[in-house]
Amino acid sequence: ALYGRVERPECIACGLCQMLAPDLFDYDQAGIAYYKPDRNTGTKALDDQATIHFRLAYKRCPTHAIKRSDHPFDADPYTPT
Ligand code: F3S
Repeated sequence: ALYGRVERPECIACGLCQMLAPDLFDYDQAGIAYYKPDRNTGTKALDDQATIHFRLAYKRCPTHAIKRSDHPFDADPYTPT
C-alpha cells in the first residue's frame, strides 16, 4: 500500500499539488499544503486511482515536500490549522 503526506515545513506554497490532484491536496490559510484524505497524518492508504494522482503531484513538487511511504507514517504529522 502507498501512504502520503506533506512535510509542511518544506512546502513553499507553490500550489502545484492542489492543481494536479485536487482530491488529495488542499491548503491552510497560509497557503501551505496538506494531504486531505487523512488530514496529513499519512495513515490512510491510497487506492489505485488516487495513487495515479498522487504520483503526479509527488513528482512535480519543487521542494520534494510531498513524502511517500509503503507503510503508515508515524506521529508528528504537521497537522494543518
Ligand atoms: Fe507545497 Fe509542493 Fe504542494 S511546495 S503546495 S507541497 S507542490
